[in-house]
Amino acid sequence: MELKVYNNYNDLSAAAAEIIIDCVKSKPDALLCFATGDTPKLAYQMVAEKVVKENIDFSKCFMIGLDEWMGISPENTGSCHWFLHEYLFKPVNIDLSQVHLFDAFAKDEEAECKKMNKLIAANGIDLMVVGVGMNGHIGFNEPGTDIESLAHVAILDETTKTVGQKYFRDKVSIEKGITVGLKQVMQAEKLLVMANGKKKAPVIKRVVEEHLNTDFPASLIQVHKNSLLMIDDEAASELKTETR
Ligand code: F6R
Repeated sequence: MELKVYNNYNDLSAAAAEIIIDCVKSKPDALLCFATGDTPKLAYQMVAEKVVKENIDFSKCFMIGLDEWMGISPENTGSCHWFLHEYLFKPVNIDLSQVHLFDAFAKDEEAECKKMNKLIAANGIDLMVVGVGMNGHIGFNEPGTDIESLAHVAILDETTKTVGQKYFRDKVSIEKGITVGLKQVMQAEKLLVMANGKKKAPVIKRVVEEHLNTDFPASLIQVHKNSLLMIDDEAASELKTETR
């Protein structure tokens, strides 16, 4: 794992946006997997701005969503679906045929997961962009998730349910999430993990300094073959000087 610390959220986002664009430039038909949430929002907006301004060709790549809240409508502004369309797909002019997102209302959850597994197995994820939850989750791979897990429906951890309310205008009941699995996270060709802000400082300390353990899934990125942890100064503030 490589660690890069940036002065602020803006610099971190600009660097992440560059990596996303470079991935598509070097492999136009790349398969990209994107998380949602506060962390990557600005990076996606920067990608969109640059793609439009510089007329960069994103027409051959394929994009998948890392996860989704089960039972939350795609029109809900708190859904991962809405977020990716609003900040990335629409502004970049991505055709819907280039996108696959989990269906939050899938009656057959197993079949829904299989669809995602098939797609990933056929192409392999070239670049995965993720954030880290306050409980160390990646996607909805909650503490205790099996390292061998593929796409699955997860019972959400209490922390995820509480923190997750921040995305919604009105209080919602969020009990389950559907997510790409830890094995697929670990198999991505390149894994870009982002974190910013003071509140993520204790989380990042555990990601970097704790022994690998599935009770804190993000600690696994230490042994990913090609992971880059990109954080701002605030998120790095609790790291030991020797690990920075
Ligand atoms: C969302 C996702 C989550 C978030 C994590 C951090 O698609 O996969 O794992 O990345 O909860 O969320 P923020 O960025 O809002 O702090």
